[in-house]
Amino acid sequence: MRKAFAVLLSLGMFCALSGGLALAQPAGKAIVDNACSKCHNTKRVESASKSPAEWEATLDRMIAKGAKVNPADRENVLKYLNTLNK
Ligand code: HEC
Repeated sequence: MRKAFAVLLSLGMFCALSGGLALAQPAGKAIVDNACSKCHNTKRVESASKSPAEWEATLDRMIAKGAKVNPADRENVLKYLNTLNK
């Protein structure tokens, strides 16, 4: 009984930890680091501060220029971009 509790407790801690890591490194960041560093460095992206509508317009402008962002990743990328606002 005690053992089962210990197993459950460590499982719970593991989930909390991996959840925390996922939050510290949002899904969109890896895509931005890769797709948005081809023509300018990511400082240009990270130093920008925009409303959600402006980020969406900027992202679409960059995609039109040739940024490789999968339509399925668009939401995650926008979520991450909106965390960059000061
Ligand atoms: C194909 C080349 C290319 C890629 C890939 C690219 N950009 Fe750009 N980016 C540009 C150019 C050229 C400019 C300057 C002219 C302009 O603003 O349209 C620019 C400017 C910017 C600016 C500053 C201007 C503004 O509107 O604030 C931001 C922010 C930006 N890019 C974000 C991104 C993001 C986010 C990505 C990835 C999704 C990305 N870029 C990928 C070419 C690119």
